[in-house]
Amino acid sequence: MVRIGVVGAGLVAHAVHLPLLRELDDRFDVVAVADPRPESRADAARRFGVPHAYADHRELLAAGALDAVLICSPNGTHAGAVLDALDAGVHVLVEKPLCLTLADADRIVAARDRTGLTVQVGYMKRFDPAYEALLADLPASVAIRHVATTTYDPELSRHFGGSGAGDGDPFSDAFLGALIHDVNAVHGVLERAGVALPLDVVDGGCAANGRTATGVVALPGGARWTLAWLLLPGAGEFREEVAVYAEDAIRTLVFPAPYVLRAPAVYRCGAGGVRRSFRSWEEAYARQLLHFHACVSEGRACRTPPEQARADIELLTRIFAAVR
Ligand SMILES: NC(=O)c1ccc[n+]([C@@H]2O[C@H](COP(=O)([O-])OP(=O)(O)OC[C@H]3O[C@@H](n4cnc5c(N)ncnc54)[C@H](O)[C@@H]3O)[C@@H](O)[C@H]2O)c1
Repeated sequence: MVRIGVVGAGLVAHAVHLPLLRELDDRFDVVAVADPRPESRADAARRFGVPHAYADHRELLAAGALDAVLICSPNGTHAGAVLDALDAGVHVLVEKPLCLTLADADRIVAARDRTGLTVQVGYMKRFDPAYEALLADLPASVAIRHVATTTYDPELSRHFGGSGAGDGDPFSDAFLGALIHDVNAVHGVLERAGVALPLDVVDGGCAANGRTATGVVALPGGARWTLAWLLLPGAGEFREEVAVYAEDAIRTLVFPAPYVLRAPAVYRCGAGGVRRSFRSWEEAYARQLLHFHACVSEGRACRTPPEQARADIELLTRIFAAVR
């Protein structure tokens, strides 16, 4: 049994992490939550039967009796909470983004190495069976002609009862908060296709007061990867698509809204006039938790370590620097 504390009892904790931890109660025992808002932590403790509630992660760590923490507080708080947890001898599953600066990413990698503890970054899409199907389907050194990642979001968090406020900073919210999912997913695809990272940045864009974030990245042979994330109140629905146009086939992934459990991502592959599609009802967030459990209890190698997150943050930092 992994004794776990949850840091941040907001929207994603209530909608995703606490319900799944309760379902996996043969593996996880949620012993405490921490949130500076008294009503949020009390609500989480009452609804999910968590015995202890604290105002911040330091109190939670000081109380001891923990093997791990799941950090799902605002982006700007992640680095400090990860480093304090590692200092306290506790394994970490931290929501994306790992942190906001490369210096903090380096500190976290060094602390992880010093302590030998697991730090897993919450890139649940890597655990989605549809994403795994795309990777398994991709020839190892196929030539990629174009990649396009497009997400539109009708300010979903507001409809799910969240503040939707984020950190109020386009770099933290739009680039490191939102575009990072697509960057991480595409980095995994490119590694599988034998493309060396890092990649050159061609352009960056930030419009509508941070409600639109875009980028253009160079791929080998003059190809391009275009990225777009748009908060579009009029969109009516959430849609996140990763499209990989390779020499042998066109492959797409369409992901569900990130606050909805058991809405499957869909993988489609069109090649030579034949279209195939794949979806699974296995929940990516639950598979992410099971992987974390295996890392903590069996010493399994982490599939989404901080070095991987650092590469994502590094690319997005350069895209943001290219914004004109
Ligand atoms: N993997 C995903 O797709 C996904 C989806 C949603 C959110 N997230 C991430 O999860 C995190 C939380 O997002 P959310 O939508 O739940 O936000 P939210 O604003 O609804 O909740 C954040 C909670 O953290 C609390 N908090 C603030 N400062 C804190 C601190 N120092 N220590 C502990 N708690 C603190 C707030 O009071 C609030 O209850 C963000 O980092 C976000 O990027 C990831």
